[in-house]
Amino acid sequence: VIVYLNGEWLDEADALIPIDDLGFLQGDGVFETARLHRGGYFRLPRHLERLAESARMLRLPMPDAGHLGAVAARLATRNALDEGSLRITITRGRPGGEATLLATLQPIAAEWQRRAERGWRIVTARTTRPAPRSIPAALKSLGRVYSILARLEVRPHGTDDVLLLSEAGQICEGPSWNVFWRRGSLLRTPSAHTGALDGVTRAAVLELAPAAGFSVEQGEWPRAQLDDAEEVFATMSSVGIVPVRSLDGRNLASDAAARLLQARYWELVAREVAARTDPPGTDRA
Ligand SMILES: Cc1ncc(COP(=O)(O)O)c(C=O)c1O
Repeated sequence: VIVYLNGEWLDEADALIPIDDLGFLQGDGVFETARLHRGGYFRLPRHLERLAESARMLRLPMPDAGHLGAVAARLATRNALDEGSLRITITRGRPGGEATLLATLQPIAAEWQRRAERGWRIVTARTTRPAPRSIPAALKSLGRVYSILARLEVRPHGTDDVLLLSEAGQICEGPSWNVFWRRGSLLRTPSAHTGALDGVTRAAVLELAPAAGFSVEQGEWPRAQLDDAEEVFATMSSVGIVPVRSLDGRNLASDAAARLLQARYWELVAREVAARTDPPGTDRA
């Protein structure tokens, strides 16, 4: 795998970060992930806007978006990938030094893909997502220790992932995904007030839902909402929409909305990617 680190194109084995990088020592940094599908990135400009917003909050320098777009395109050509997950990480770098910029493109792991297709078993974590006044909803930072602790709660149990609630007990999101649930033709998803990220996939589902026959509400709801949900699903860039098969041990019989929206979602991704104006290989990196 060829990666981009601080202006250099390197084999991943040769891409080294100093031991005093503050991203390593303190989790001081931000990141973004975007999906490469059929050779193009889905809504990369939106991901880069979000990265810029995160960088602004941590007062980290944001590289030029045109440069990052060219790096992303070149990662695809250099690694000969049509499908993959792009990750851009910016850390504060060494004390007194310059920020670290790392961009990688990895194939979607087969096991991750398989589990997404099968649907997830998730449980609600005891660890909660800190209030947005402590950690802003729009800040995609490294060092999200509450997510690490939440995942550790279930590590021995053969669970696919955990659902986080807010400190007030409201449904929030997963460590790396947004959540929706359905009763009848009504879909609900937590608003940013709960601390949930304004995910790119979530936004696409909000756009697609009405034409697929669903109304959508965003708001703040307690965990008990999920007790009579007919269906629950997760959304994230890497694999799109993932049906939840069981939540806290309760089997969810339906995945109808998830499957319908999944089909519409991948059509949308394919259509936008085919229409994009920056052909892969546009080489300004
Ligand atoms: C906390 C959190 N929520 C939601 C998401 C999903 O966002 P997107 O659909 O933009 O990948 C992510 C993605 O990494 C995330 O880290």
